[in-house]
Amino acid sequence: MKPQPITISPSLLSCDFGRIADEVGRVEQAGADWLHVDVMDAHFVPNLTIGPPVVKAIHQAASVPLDVHLMISEPARYAADFAKAGAHVLTFHIEVTDSLAQAREVIRTFRDAGIEKVGVSLNPDTPIESVEDLLGEVELVLIMSVFPGFGGQSFIADVLSKTRWLRDQGFEGHVEMDGGVGLDTLSACVEAGADVLVAGSAIFGAPDMQERISEFRRLGEAAGCRS
Ligand code: DX5
Ligand code: ZN
Repeated sequence: MKPQPITISPSLLSCDFGRIADEVGRVEQAGADWLHVDVMDAHFVPNLTIGPPVVKAIHQAASVPLDVHLMISEPARYAADFAKAGAHVLTFHIEVTDSLAQAREVIRTFRDAGIEKVGVSLNPDTPIESVEDLLGEVELVLIMSVFPGFGGQSFIADVLSKTRWLRDQGFEGHVEMDGGVGLDTLSACVEAGADVLVAGSAIFGAPDMQERISEFRRLGEAAGCRS
């Protein structure tokens, strides 16, 4: 596998939503490469967050790419709205599709909407082989290292084998790890082959956000050299 630069994508789920534009500025200033935006529909996951109008507001405040993670049952239905709102990366969950044909239809809808990087995600208990036939058609695979729905949960280390499997298959796109990523878990993610690290509570909860992101980058780059 060729070493890739580390991309740090702080999850805005852990920011102060009452001052979202300021929070975007603050986390960009601290060194964020992308901004991870968690969209939940209270159907695919037991939580409800934000939709296209708020994503648009975030996009207007942001100068780095928006990494939009759709934890929703009908991703194709809303693809154009999220693309118009400013999503750069748009990721859907494989669990919401019933067949390979349906997953391909979602990917096609995202592309038709003008999405530059299409991502597919899978829950901790979904086998990695479920995305095998899509690897040539997506730019990113998002591996959930917690059950989706809430920030602040503990990292499930078993999912690291999925990252290794993807790299063993020769997948050269982005592998994004999402959930419970922090100072204690980040190196293992990168050693296994992840290059995009999402962190909500570990970044927004840090006493010094800039210092935390720098530390993430140092650890990630060191682990990348070992992988
Ligand atoms: C969980 C979300 C994550 C979450 C990560 O459903 O997809 O992006 O915000 O938060 P932490 O880093 O606190 O686990
Ligand atoms: Zn997420």
